Amino acid sequence: MPEFDEKSITAAVIARMSECKDARFKQVMTSLITHLHDFVREVRLTEEEWMQAIQFLTETGQACTDRRQEFILLSDTLGVSILVITLNHPAENGTAESTVLGPFYWEGAPELPRGSNLAEGVKGEPTFYSGRVLSADGRPLPDAVLDIWSGDGEGNYDMQLGEEVGMKARGKIRTDEQGRYWFRSIRPTFYPVPTDGPVGRMLRKMGRHPYRPGHIHMIVSAPGHASVTTHLFVAGSEYLDSDAVFGMKESLVARFDRHEPGVAPTGERMTTPFYTVEYDFRLRPLTTSAAA
Ligand SMILES: [Fe+2]
Repeated sequence: MPEFDEKSITAAVIARMSECKDARFKQVMTSLITHLHDFVREVRLTEEEWMQAIQFLTETGQACTDRRQEFILLSDTLGVSILVITLNHPAENGTAESTVLGPFYWEGAPELPRGSNLAEGVKGEPTFYSGRVLSADGRPLPDAVLDIWSGDGEGNYDMQLGEEVGMKARGKIRTDEQGRYWFRSIRPTFYPVPTDGPVGRMLRKMGRHPYRPGHIHMIVSAPGHASVTTHLFVAGSEYLDSDAVFGMKESLVARFDRHEPGVAPTGERMTTPFYTVEYDFRLRPLTTSAAA
């Protein structure tokens, strides 16, 4: 009968995978088991702490719904999401950098005509976004799609406002023959990640604030190019230097120019001050992304 001590247990667990047919799975699990055991040995985990961890992960799963992903939030706040993204999408040749998807992506936002107001009835200062989607060498990419979402001007996403609200401040915009896009939305403000669940409790216990700097999300894709999951951050926003999910990248900070009431770039007459932002996204060709 084999018996294991605190050292030999690790090799024994790994040895049980000798019949595993999936080489990559085996590699990942071998490393996971090794690090997990080393971690338990290093901190001399108590039984009480082990049970707390089990309860925490159970609650994290239970907090997930089709509109809330507490596990992604856990990964984001522990810096794992941005680490995976950084490893898989190295910044290169001035192409758009990736950042976290975040917990508020909602698949299936409608495609709207260029120039549409994505934030009809949404609180916040009106902002006109425009720019181009280009290849890495600067060719305009027609038929590129920007899948866009943001919170409102008070930092709330539609998903947080109740079942009946439906999709707000979301939409897909396609580029024209010159690779240009333009649309209207609002100027997003800083907001806290959800703090009413287990991840919020973890942040408080760590002595951390839960805030993300103001940003608008986009997944930019074009035929023959690697899509990029990214944000535009509002220049000057609070918390740019301490994003709770470590997603801030300098290259994604965009200037929001303020204008007095008057004629907007879309030709509409604005009775309130408004903002304009211009940003070009360069996409990597699919071939180099596979090699990266
Ligand atoms: Fe966000």
